[in-house]
Amino acid sequence: MSTPLDTTMSQIQQLLNRQIERVNQMKLSPPNTPMANLSNITIGVCPGDGIGPVIATEAQRVMQTVLDQLPPPSHRHIQFKPIHGLTIENRLSLGVAIPPTVLADLKSCHVILKGPTTTPQVGMGVANIESANVAMRRELDLFANVRPVQIPQLGIDWTFFRENTEGEYVLGSQGIEVNHDISLDFKITTQLGCERIIRAAFEFAKQTGKKRVSVVTKSNVIKTTDGRFSRVAREIAEEYKADGIQSDEWYVDIMAAKLIDPARQSDFSVLVMPNLYGDILTDEAAQLQGGVGTAGSANIGNRWAMFEAIHGSAPRMVSEGRGDYADPSSMIKAGAMLLRHIGLIDQANQIEQALTLCTQIEKKWIITGRSDGVTASQFADYILEWAIHPDLDTHYSKGIAHAS
Ligand code: IPM
Ligand code: MG
Repeated sequence: MSTPLDTTMSQIQQLLNRQIERVNQMKLSPPNTPMANLSNITIGVCPGDGIGPVIATEAQRVMQTVLDQLPPPSHRHIQFKPIHGLTIENRLSLGVAIPPTVLADLKSCHVILKGPTTTPQVGMGVANIESANVAMRRELDLFANVRPVQIPQLGIDWTFFRENTEGEYVLGSQGIEVNHDISLDFKITTQLGCERIIRAAFEFAKQTGKKRVSVVTKSNVIKTTDGRFSRVAREIAEEYKADGIQSDEWYVDIMAAKLIDPARQSDFSVLVMPNLYGDILTDEAAQLQGGVGTAGSANIGNRWAMFEAIHGSAPRMVSEGRGDYADPSSMIKAGAMLLRHIGLIDQANQIEQALTLCTQIEKKWIITGRSDGVTASQFADYILEWAIHPDLDTHYSKGIAHAS
């Protein structure tokens, strides 16, 4: 008769076998395909649930309006493709994180704009399906979660490179209840997984002229997995010394403190870290910028890239009838990041400058999430007013100088 321990051991063996397969797949992954020069680009739009459809609609409208200003004839054909079916109702009724038809649609696009999706929690009385975000990152192998946070008047310009497919997340819904007393979760870190995210961070620093990459771990305690992350980071850092890029390592707890230390916070530039630490630190950083509603997130792989808000679907806002008052800034920011990814740098800058002007400097209209503020659609109009304003640059520079 098999004991609980035997069962656990055989489950662990199966999990490990699948991880070995995953690593083998990673090794076969095609090289990065830059999208800046493709002549046709399809942007898949997945509205998600809760406030997702409201903010995704506004983000698409802002992007489309800015794209419409591109001088004709445009040598590129950029089209939006609506993707239906990534709703919590559909996912629960099929019992899957991402319905297969949705996954096929996602894979038929070059880039994806995705609204927040609801993740059922254990104990909610519904099927315990995996988070659609986590599943999409894995299925499309979107290993680099890039999250910028900018507060120009405080001299803050951070870009977080969060590892997006490993760590505590990779087997997050496959932990084991060993027996009545013991629950077991896993943290997985692979050599290739470390190399690709750390290299992405250093390459970004090199290409954008940034001089510092800070590596965040808890390798003093989590010695094996974080230990590997830290070791790989030290090796890769050596290669970039010649480019004048400095590197330092911080433990995640002290980094959480330093990000809110006025004397130190503007010293950080590019930060790279394992999955869970990145999840937590980027919410903290976004809060400094004005809240998670202001932050966008890029999920980048070698073949596809997906852009989204860093926050959830806020079902309570919808059930309380406040959905139309959701802040679209995060999705509009995600849209700008998507445009930059496909090579439309000026258009991305226009939208980002307008966002900073409206949310941090001019603040003519305020989003509060309630009827005492403006609606998502009114706020998107406000951002658009600036995004296509002929004197945007001058107003932006003056605004920043005045606020500093
Ligand atoms: C994020 C979110 C997700 C994560 C959730 C929704 C699974 O918090 O994108 O940061 O933890 O990665
Ligand atoms: Mg998060």
